[in-house]
Amino acid sequence: MELQKRSGVSLPKILATWLLLLAASAGPAECIRENPNFSAQDEGGGGGGAAEEFRYSAASCRTHTASLADFGGVGDGVTSNTAAFGDAVAHLSQFASDGGGMLFVPAGRWLTGPFNLTSSFTLFLHRDAVILATQNVNEWPVIDPLPSYGRGRDHPGGRYSSLIGGSNLTDVIITGDNGTIDGQGATWWSKFHGNKLKYTRGYLIELMHSDQIFIMNLTLLNSPAWNIHPVYSSNIVISGITILAPVHSPNTDGINPDSCSNVRIEDCYIVSGDDCVAIKSGWDEYGIAYGMPSQHILVRRLVCVSPTSAVIALGSEMSGGIRDVRAEDITAVNSESGVRIKTAIGRGAYVRDVFVRRMTLDTMKWVFWMTGNYKSHPDDKYDPNAIPVVDGISYSDVTAVNVTMAARLEGIPGAPFTGVCISNITVALRKARKLPWYCTDVEGVSSGVTPAACASLADQGTDNGGGGLCPFPTDPAPMEDVQLQECAYVKTS
Ligand SMILES: *[C@@H]1O[C@H](CO)[C@@H](O)[C@H](O)[C@H]1NC(C)=O
Ligand SMILES: *[C@@H]1O[C@H](CO)[C@@H](O)[C@H](O)[C@H]1NC(C)=O
Ligand SMILES: *[C@@H]1O[C@H](CO)[C@@H](O)[C@H](O)[C@H]1NC(C)=O
Ligand SMILES: *[C@@H]1O[C@H](CO)[C@@H](O)[C@H](O)[C@H]1NC(C)=O
Ligand SMILES: *[C@@H]1O[C@H](CO)[C@@H](O)[C@H](O)[C@H]1NC(C)=O
Ligand SMILES: *[C@@H]1O[C@H](CO)[C@@H](O)[C@H](O)[C@H]1NC(C)=O
Ligand SMILES: *[C@@H]1O[C@H](CO)[C@@H](O)[C@H](O)[C@H]1NC(C)=O
Repeated sequence: MELQKRSGVSLPKILATWLLLLAASAGPAECIRENPNFSAQDEGGGGGGAAEEFRYSAASCRTHTASLADFGGVGDGVTSNTAAFGDAVAHLSQFASDGGGMLFVPAGRWLTGPFNLTSSFTLFLHRDAVILATQNVNEWPVIDPLPSYGRGRDHPGGRYSSLIGGSNLTDVIITGDNGTIDGQGATWWSKFHGNKLKYTRGYLIELMHSDQIFIMNLTLLNSPAWNIHPVYSSNIVISGITILAPVHSPNTDGINPDSCSNVRIEDCYIVSGDDCVAIKSGWDEYGIAYGMPSQHILVRRLVCVSPTSAVIALGSEMSGGIRDVRAEDITAVNSESGVRIKTAIGRGAYVRDVFVRRMTLDTMKWVFWMTGNYKSHPDDKYDPNAIPVVDGISYSDVTAVNVTMAARLEGIPGAPFTGVCISNITVALRKARKLPWYCTDVEGVSSGVTPAACASLADQGTDNGGGGLCPFPTDPAPMEDVQLQECAYVKTS
C-alpha cells in the first residue's frame, strides 16, 4: 500500500562533511581554560579582580572571547547598547577563521536596537542578563522584504529588521544559562492594532542564508511579532527555549522555520498569541519563483499554550513546498488546534510526508484542522492554476480532552488532500455532537479512532488497536549526530 512505502530521508552530504570538520577541530580540553585568571584580556576583557567561570555546552567552543562591558556597554536598562553590540561583534568577527569569537552578555539589562551576528560566533547570555529591545522605532532599520514573500506580511513594501539578525553566516550559536531576550513588544502590538505602522514588524531573531545555527537555553519574551525565524537556512538546532507572549498578542508565533532544511526543535515551552511552531516556505507567486522548500524537520517534546492558534502549523505560506516533517511527544493545554495545515489556490507546491505521533492535548476547538481555502494573498497576481498538493499526512497515538470538535478537514474541491492516515486517536468531546468529524475533499484511512472518523477516511478495523497503521520514519532525526562540547568562559569582574 502506498502509504507504507514512503522512503526514508537521508541526511545531506553537507552535514556529514561538517561533522568531519567538527571532529577534527578543537576538542573540549582546548575549550576549557584551566587558568582562572584567563579572561580575554588580550581582547580588552575585565579589569582584574575576582574571576567567575561560566560553563556551557555548545557545538563549538570559541578561542576568542569578550564581554559586552568591554565595549562600553552599560546594563542599566536605560543606556543604549546598540553601538556596543555592533562594535563587539565587529571586533570578534575578525576571528572567524581563527577559532571563532564569543560575546558574553553579563548580568544586567542591556537596552539595544537591532544588531547582526557574524560567522563562527557565540552570543552567550548570563542567567541574569536581559537584552531589551529598544522601543524607539527609528532605531529599527527598514530592510527589503523576503524574496519568497514579495512584500512584508503586515504591509506591502519593506519591513523592520529583526532585533538579532544575520545573513550568509556559518556556525552561529545563541545560548546562555536561560538568560532573557525581551522584545518589549507591547508598543508594536498597539501600533499594529491601531494601524499606525508603515512597515511590517520585526522579529526577535532572524538568520537568513545561514548554515549551522544553534539556539539554546534562553527565554524570549514579548517579541514584536514572530520569535525565532530561520529562513533560507540549514542544519539548525533549537532547544531548551522558553517563549512567552500574551495569548492575545498579534502574530507572536514561537518558532517559524521558513524555507529551511535539517531542523531539530526540541524541549521548548511556548506560550504564544499565534502558532507555537509554524513551518513555512514563501507566499504564492513569490514563493513559487523562489522555490525553496522546508524539509527534514523534527519537532519533539514541545509544550504549547496557544488559545488563538495551532500547536504546529504548516503554511499558510508553503509555496516552496513542505516535506518530511515529523513531530512527536507534543503536549498542549488550551490551543485552538493541534496540527493545522493551511493552504490555498495560488500557493502551488505541496505539503507532503508529515508524520505526527504521541500528542497529549487538553482543551481545544479542533484536534486536527486542514484548510484548503485560507484567505490571504500577497496581491491579486497569484496564479489561479497553482493548486497545492497535500498528500501523505499521518497522525497517530493522540489523546485529547475537552475538545469542541475532533477534526475539521477541508481539502480543495477537485484537488482533494490525499493519503491522510489517522490511527489510535481518542478524543473526549466537551459536549457530544452529531458530527464530531467534518471532512470535505479529503481521502485516506483510519483505525482505532474515537469518536469514529468520517467515512472518507475508510476505517481499516481495529484488530491491532489502531496502532501501526500510519507510518513514522525510522531513519535518524535531523542533526542527530551533533556532539556538544563542554565550553567555559572565565570572566574577571
Ligand atoms: C592569577 O592572578 C593572580 C593575581 O594577579 C596571581 O597572583 C596568580 O598567580 C594568577 N594565577 C594563575 C594561575 O595565573
Ligand atoms: C541547557 O540547560 C539544560 C538544563 O539546565 C542543560 O542540561 C544543558 O546542558 C544546557 N544546554 C546548554 C547548551 O548549555
Ligand atoms: C543586518 O544585516 C541585514 C542584511 O544583511 C542588513 O540589511 C541590516 O541593515 C543589518 N542591520 C544592522 C543593524 O546592521
Ligand atoms: C547571501 O546568500 C544568498 C544565497 O546564496 C546570495 O544570493 C546573496 O548574494 C548572499 N549575500 C551576500 C551579501 O553575500
Ligand atoms: C527559564 O526561565 C523561564 C522564565 O523565567 C522559566 O519559566 C523556565 O522554567 C526557565 N528554564 C529553566 C530550564 O530553568
Ligand atoms: C495508542 O496511543 C496511546 C497514547 O495516546 C498509547 O499509549 C498506546 O500505546 C497506543 N496504542 C497502540 C496500539 O499503539
Ligand atoms: C474546557 O474548555 C472550555 C472552553 O474552551 C473552557 O472554558 C473550560 O475551562 C475547559 N474545562 C476544563 C476542565 O479545562
